[in-house]
Amino acid sequence: MSNRLIDLQHITKIFDGEKILDDLNLYIRENEFLTLLGPSGCGKTTTLRIIGGFLFPDEGSVIFDGKNITQLAPNKRQLNTVFQKYALFPNMNVAENIAFGLRIKKKSKAYIDDKIKYALKLVNLDGYEKRKIDALSGGQQQRIAIARAIVNEPKVLLLDEPLGALDLKMRQDMQYELIRLKNELGITFVYVTHDQEEALTMSDTIVVMNGGYIQQIGTPEDIYNEPQNAFVADFIGDSNLLGGTMIQDRLVEILGAKFLCVDEGFGTNNPVDVVIRPEDVELVKPEVGIIKGRVTSVIFKGVHYEMTVLANNFEWLVHSTDMYPADSEVGIFVKPFNIQIMHKPESEDEKAVDINE
Ligand SMILES: Nc1ncnc2c1ncn2[C@@H]1O[C@H](COP(=O)(O)OP(=O)(O)OP(=O)(O)O)[C@@H](O)[C@H]1O
Ligand SMILES: [Mg+2]
Repeated sequence: MSNRLIDLQHITKIFDGEKILDDLNLYIRENEFLTLLGPSGCGKTTTLRIIGGFLFPDEGSVIFDGKNITQLAPNKRQLNTVFQKYALFPNMNVAENIAFGLRIKKKSKAYIDDKIKYALKLVNLDGYEKRKIDALSGGQQQRIAIARAIVNEPKVLLLDEPLGALDLKMRQDMQYELIRLKNELGITFVYVTHDQEEALTMSDTIVVMNGGYIQQIGTPEDIYNEPQNAFVADFIGDSNLLGGTMIQDRLVEILGAKFLCVDEGFGTNNPVDVVIRPEDVELVKPEVGIIKGRVTSVIFKGVHYEMTVLANNFEWLVHSTDMYPADSEVGIFVKPFNIQIMHKPESEDEKAVDINE
């Protein structure tokens, strides 16, 4: 997965005098499942529409397979889009919906019939050809929308929150379907979501965006385990986000206590942000902890207990399979490699990174 299929270079998009995307750089490899993840309004759909050709950037280029396609119309691009609203034609049946694009391309009836059969099989809806659209569930409609995109044999499928309207169970089923489709078809997926769990489950690469800037690009593991700044840490999963002072290499002061860590190169006596995941906070006897605290709440979550511990004026979030009752005195211990040190942002909307490896 090394060659760049799509390359977004220095993309800037301005709406009503406001920079919605500011010098965005990103590339997408062939066969990659890449997810744009970020809060509402951060520019995900805008980025996707620029890739799809539904919007033109004010500055910058879109390169596809080495060719500049910045000004190319959507139907001339080798990609298909599945929007959040499925936009199926309600007056046509399933087969007619899937066939629509192929008819426009004047494909033969035999070719179209074959494609419909194949696509319905892929989305696990064999035999649904004659079904009316309004006689399908939301999840089935979504799968038809995907089938309709697939029969055009796009090199890239752009999906904008395609599962947003589905309930949790169906969303999970569809996540597996999409991963399977990606593996079977070898298509490149560019996927948009604001659901971090969905992004972690499905993606080869996650692009975390905020306020029109890319905050971090990485594998789900990278993004979760090594967030590059406080925004990413806070957005991805639950975390304890603390201000700290890097005393020297491998030693950080948090809440007035010194913690051993593994990070180097942050200077001496420098302010830093520190993230510690709740599952990495270990509760021990008060006298052996790095700091002492008191359990303030306990909730059973099925697999683990979720507890809060007030220690040195900070409410720590703790996940553990061992339960410590509310009000008990505990010590807090964190292994050095479970402490993640990050640079403090220089400004509110700093660009953390703009090129993926
Ligand atoms: N056609 C438009 N005209 C003016 N402003 C727009 C236009 N389209 C988008 N915007 C603005 O650009 C910003 C980014 O919008 P975008 O749709 O890309 O966000 P998003 O990340 O997809 O959010 P969501 O998760 O809510 O879908 C928003 O502030 C939005 O109001
Ligand atoms: Mg959007």
